Amino acid sequence: INSSTNALDGIIPKISNCNRCQLHKTRTNTVPGMGVNNPVVLVIGEGPGADEDASGLPFVGKAGQLLDKMLAAISLSRTSNCYIANIVKCRPPANRDPLPEECEACSSYLVAQITTLKPKMILALGRVAIQNLLQTTDGIGKLRGYFHDYKGIPLLATYHPSALLRNPDLKRPAWEDLKIFRDRLNILSPDYDIPFKAEQNQ
Ligand code: URA
Repeated sequence: INSSTNALDGIIPKISNCNRCQLHKTRTNTVPGMGVNNPVVLVIGEGPGADEDASGLPFVGKAGQLLDKMLAAISLSRTSNCYIANIVKCRPPANRDPLPEECEACSSYLVAQITTLKPKMILALGRVAIQNLLQTTDGIGKLRGYFHDYKGIPLLATYHPSALLRNPDLKRPAWEDLKIFRDRLNILSPDYDIPFKAEQNQ
């Protein structure tokens, strides 16, 4: 699998050459996203960490391994029916939260990805992702677990897998969120799991 898709061929080089914010000075690689060309689901995280900065691929560290398990539990994967992207495409130094001006500078790339990929549903991981998508300052505890609307696309937020690794008490509510997400997906796109199951049988 590539870090890019054909549909995003126009956007990826723009991200690679981007210097719209200061994060370009400290990055090793940009991390545009990865996944299939016609994803039923777009998963949106916060921004690259050390492993992602080193590889140019999203969610490849410990949190990424947990994310892949969470997605698989509802028949989703980045290689069969999802695309995974982030709010910011470059690593914030020492994994600090991306600054508002960094999120703003990067936002048109994510908007272009959403417009191009046309996912049926969006899953936001953690506070930074959902706050930026909804342009709110409400906390993740308040925003998670029910559907929001992003330009006509159902959007659900849950806890970031890094938060689940730090605090296992959050795993149960996160699983409740994933079941809510799956139920809606089953209604909107009843065959969404066929590519995932085909991949499992390979
Ligand atoms: N955390 C994120 O939010 N995104 C990644 O790509 C990796 C870790």
